[in-house]
Amino acid sequence: MKNKNKLKIAVLLGGTSAEREVSIASGLQIAEALQNKGYDVIPIDTAGGLKKIDVSKGFDVGLIPPESKSLSKLDDRYLSVKLNSGELQDVDVVFIGLHGGHGEDGTIQALLNLGGVSFTGSDVLASAAAMDKAFSKMIFKSQGIPTPEWIAFQRDALKNVKETVKRIETEIGIPAVIKPNAQGSTVGLSIVKSKNRIEEALRTAFEYDNKVLVETYIYGRELTVAVVGNYDLPVIEIVPEGGLYDYKCKYTSGKSKYFCPADIPKRVAEKCIFYGRQAFEILGCRDYGRVDFRLDNDNSLYCLEVNTLPGMTPTSLVPKAMKAIGYDFDDLIDIIVKMALERKNE
Ligand SMILES: Nc1ncnc2c1ncn2[C@@H]1O[C@H](COP(=O)(O)OP(=O)(O)O)[C@@H](O)[C@H]1O
Ligand SMILES: [Mg+2]
Repeated sequence: MKNKNKLKIAVLLGGTSAEREVSIASGLQIAEALQNKGYDVIPIDTAGGLKKIDVSKGFDVGLIPPESKSLSKLDDRYLSVKLNSGELQDVDVVFIGLHGGHGEDGTIQALLNLGGVSFTGSDVLASAAAMDKAFSKMIFKSQGIPTPEWIAFQRDALKNVKETVKRIETEIGIPAVIKPNAQGSTVGLSIVKSKNRIEEALRTAFEYDNKVLVETYIYGRELTVAVVGNYDLPVIEIVPEGGLYDYKCKYTSGKSKYFCPADIPKRVAEKCIFYGRQAFEILGCRDYGRVDFRLDNDNSLYCLEVNTLPGMTPTSLVPKAMKAIGYDFDDLIDIIVKMALERKNE
């Protein structure tokens, strides 16, 4: 039964992507924040059904993502069944707490549009564009946003793998970064430092995607720009233990150091924020997101990607940036819901 005095928010979490565990952590903490702000909340695992809000035990995101085999057994038709049966009709807004896969690539957004339900964050086209790294890089390049040089390969590149390796050696060079085109959380990504490791890295990346991106490795530092509405947010520097900001460093506390604001020259910070917002806007993103950069030793910036559904636990990067300007996690979640509600009432 709907409580007449309260707005009802469904939080989508879990799902079937490699970032399932991260999304459960984000989603349940989003749900708790919404409850704290007085909303009526129903958390829904799109691959499992209703969830209880229980954040007391904390969240152990594993050191590695769940295996593809176990993920492929999950069924994420639950949400479409709920929408078809009209059970979500009295929901005022759906908060998408998913990461990766159908939650981030526009599919769930399209389903919600068809079901006539309002939701937080970017719409179909921007989600799909941002999730496709090769596609967004073409747009960045065309708009003058610097991004590492790259080649995108389809699966048939493995047929004549010798030729593919040669092309990478001559056009990209070593070290190279080899990553699935539409994954997140550094899953399936390798930094290749010797020629004889290229093939193995390609095969690893193709385990996760039919399209693989090979990029010039950018030596230097790791920066990220949070975008939330029109708030002025500081650039964050991430210093991962061991150099690569991988799955373990992203989700195990103490494995990365964060500097917010980043200790970089003012001019570089302003440029980073400018490119971050430009990347977000040209892809057509809305409400909130995060744009990842590398900063090389000459202070040149390179945009890696736009995340339309960035991590949303209280220690994640977008919440960190908002905290730096005085908004706590509950406030941030409320701000995002209000953006979706405003759009609904337009
Ligand atoms: N071209 C690159 N040069 C240097 N480091 C990179 C490069 N591409 C990716 N990385 C490293 O890998 C991490 C993940 O890459 P990214 O493109 O942001 O994909 P995702 O976060 O979606 O897995 C980055 O945060 C960075 O640490
Ligand atoms: Mg990233």
